[in-house]
Amino acid sequence: MSRSNHHLVRVTALLILALPAIASADEVWLSSLDLTKMRQGWGEPHSDQSLMEGPITIAGRKFERGVATHAKSTLWLELDGEVTEFLASVGVDDTAAGGTASVEFIVAGDGKSLWRSGVMHHGDESKDIRVDVRGMRSLLLLVMPTDDGVNFDHADWAEARFLYDGAAPVAIVAPREDPVILTPKPGPAPRINGPGVYGCRPGNPFLYRVPTTGVRPIAFTCDNLPASLSLNTEMGIIVGTAPERGTYEVMLRAKNHHGEASRSFRIVSGDTLALTPPMGWNHWYAHYNRITNAMMREAADIMVSSGMADVGYQFVSIDDCWMNAEEYDDPLRVGPPRDANGNILPNQHFPDMRGLTDYIHAKGLKAGIYISPGPRTCAGFAGSYGHEAQDAKQFAEWGFDLLKYDLCSYGEIIGSSMTVEALKKPYILMGGLLKQQPRDIQMNLCEYGLGDVWEWGKEVGGQSWRTSGDLGFELNRIFDVALANAKHAEFSGPGSWNDPDYIQIGYIGDARTTGMPTPCSLTPNEQYAFMSLWCLMASPLFYSGDMSRLDDFTINVLCNPEVIAIDQDPLGKCAPVIPLAEETFAMVKDLEDGSTAVGLFNPGEFAVPITLTWVDAGLSGVRIVRDLWRQTDIGEFSGKFEATGGRHGVVMVRMSRPDKDS
Ligand code: GLA
Repeated sequence: MSRSNHHLVRVTALLILALPAIASADEVWLSSLDLTKMRQGWGEPHSDQSLMEGPITIAGRKFERGVATHAKSTLWLELDGEVTEFLASVGVDDTAAGGTASVEFIVAGDGKSLWRSGVMHHGDESKDIRVDVRGMRSLLLLVMPTDDGVNFDHADWAEARFLYDGAAPVAIVAPREDPVILTPKPGPAPRINGPGVYGCRPGNPFLYRVPTTGVRPIAFTCDNLPASLSLNTEMGIIVGTAPERGTYEVMLRAKNHHGEASRSFRIVSGDTLALTPPMGWNHWYAHYNRITNAMMREAADIMVSSGMADVGYQFVSIDDCWMNAEEYDDPLRVGPPRDANGNILPNQHFPDMRGLTDYIHAKGLKAGIYISPGPRTCAGFAGSYGHEAQDAKQFAEWGFDLLKYDLCSYGEIIGSSMTVEALKKPYILMGGLLKQQPRDIQMNLCEYGLGDVWEWGKEVGGQSWRTSGDLGFELNRIFDVALANAKHAEFSGPGSWNDPDYIQIGYIGDARTTGMPTPCSLTPNEQYAFMSLWCLMASPLFYSGDMSRLDDFTINVLCNPEVIAIDQDPLGKCAPVIPLAEETFAMVKDLEDGSTAVGLFNPGEFAVPITLTWVDAGLSGVRIVRDLWRQTDIGEFSGKFEATGGRHGVVMVRMSRPDKDS
């Protein structure tokens, strides 16, 4: 109904006083609202159709209209206080024939539950709802899975509609908290950050920029540096040749007009690289097939100027689309894959690969590159298949320090026989070749967790491996993705990292459309939770957003050295998950100094108190609790710790014994 018609109806209603109240209201179908804002556990919401694209049917009864979704499903609506009623018939769709379907429908207004269906199973008759929502400003339509999991939880809001007097309800992604910056800016005095331990291979080139916050100029010095290494005292960059096999305890020092700092740094020259999870930036989720040499250099500049390098970000990594394709929209990316000798050719956006890595290295940073073991990359560019040895040598000669090896078209080579042996083969080949190069090159296995890669990624020469598909497609499921990744905790350790994909906050492009970067849809609470989860899991920390548009809030989430220290802890533990009340859970991570990092997470839709008892956490005695995001001590606790977890939020703390820990 148009706005003018709406007024006409109101006037008429006033004149004919005897009309029932409902006649004065407009009506809008839920299925006509913007359902792209709906979040759900599987598939996409469907309007006036079941998830399987037939008619909406509950216990044999067909409905013309409605919204089909899948638990867990949330749809938030903004109301103007003049929406009067929400009506619907709800139930599990008949297409959920697997037998285990069971859900609960919940309608909540302004943070309080207004109506609950109770548990509904496949085959149960629909339940009619008529909920008074007068005066409400926000409404949540929620479908929760039950204890039997989410399989087949096809849930219908059939005949769902609103009656309203003012404006129609508007679907929103979620109510957004204010983007409060919790982390204090670094002080003027030096503070040395980054890992306490660093792995290298004897005789290879060595490069390490000492991550240090504080006002420049800073004078760097160090004690006990192996003779084959030297420190640039102005820039704080250690270069040279990795020493003979052995462990070297170095003391790093930094001094400026405001104070001084020191920190021990253990160099372990041996077989293992990435003794702590690699940190850096990768271009993919910001720039996709638009990446150029100039953008890579700009990212390296900003890694330093933004302060990211001062808290430990190190790799500047190019992803797909640097090679030639046979056909492509952008003619500068089209050309022969290789020269007459079979050497791979970068496309015209990358005129000088060695120049690019020299530029990155001159800042004390490291360079990452990408290719597929198949004939083509995921985006259709030249792959390594049949040229692996040449490519490994080329990457080393160009000066790269990390290779992301992305399975993609290798499926064409192994066909349907995706056995573990077949999946391992290209990685054994490339892992061996990289080890033979006269420089340290890490390998990131990107094969989306196939063949339980966490069980063999290290043995084939990898330091990290993706445990799932592309997170860009699943950003609304960061808790689920993290919980799945955390299941492989036992495979986490020095030189062995489960990789749940990149941190995508700030400005990122939509992975579905590979569009231009826009502000990410994650709420501030979700962004704090994202970074906290990744650090507690000892995940590689690669930011993948537009470096040229980093704002203060994004920097605050990415660059808190006390939070990053949890990720970089030398023990390399991935925190086990401890389920708590309702949907809340804790992650509890043992740290090298005997203290414990704890994240209290609330994936639920409303703020709730979260209590972690010492019994659940395996703790004892008194603990000094420090809020890591705010960098403040909260107090001493014994027996339990309780905090309020905001919607999709986290409270992240470090717990130390008063006597033992610094
Ligand atoms: C795959 C990977 C992504 C990215 C793209 C590039 O989808 O999983 O991380 O590298 O390929 O095409």
